[in-house]
Amino acid sequence: MTKDDKIKIYNLLKTASDSLCGYASPDFAGEMPEFQDDVEISNEQIAISNSGDGKSQADSSSDSAISRINKKIAECKRCSLCAGRLNVVPGMGVEKPLALVIGEGPGEEEDKQGKPFVGPAGQLLDKMLSAINLYRDKNCYIANIVKCRPPMNRNPLPEEADACRPFLDAQIAALKPKAILCAGSVAVKNLFHSDEGVMKLHGKILDYKGIPVVTTWHPSALLRAPENKRPAWEDLKVFKSLLLGIVPDYDK
Ligand code: URA
Repeated sequence: MTKDDKIKIYNLLKTASDSLCGYASPDFAGEMPEFQDDVEISNEQIAISNSGDGKSQADSSSDSAISRINKKIAECKRCSLCAGRLNVVPGMGVEKPLALVIGEGPGEEEDKQGKPFVGPAGQLLDKMLSAINLYRDKNCYIANIVKCRPPMNRNPLPEEADACRPFLDAQIAALKPKAILCAGSVAVKNLFHSDEGVMKLHGKILDYKGIPVVTTWHPSALLRAPENKRPAWEDLKVFKSLLLGIVPDYDK
């Protein structure tokens, strides 16, 4: 759907809601949200866009769904983060992962290398994952809420996360993970469009479109506050039991 269509529908619903309420509807109080055009990541479109840069449709159609999505991400200019990036960081891991890990956004080292979680936080993340038999080259995929580095490693702005969201949704649809681990508040808040962060939600099993989700602390937060490593370990044990309930021998 285009941005203009979304604005039209919003205005229509606002008018209807206002007239039902008999006054300005509380549901539509405040400013209109920043709408964006949807990103279509159909096979046909990707084939067409790839054929423009010298690749034949036959070549591109042999790519996996996730690599087609990640190529689309590499061309993205949907928000201003594209101006400051050295590299896009779409994600990395296996194509049929047991678990999808969702972080916040690339940091300095990730921006340099074009790979997620390769700096100090990434080293800790790999240790956390290996403690529950998850490995990015074996049974896991790692992605972020935003695929380009926010300046000075600040949190992604809502409009940046919204602009990037169709890519995350497309990745989830293509990867079909059996479970999702949210690393930190930015991940869980954005995934669920919720105000509740890690303090409230860690260790709970939530549901995202039929996929179970567990949240724990972001490894950067654990580097800053190691006292949370113990509760984070409890969250990881919850995640491991959940995975064992889905694939009983995944840890063998
Ligand atoms: N922090 C994140 O949230 N993601 C990365 O890829 C690296 C650090």
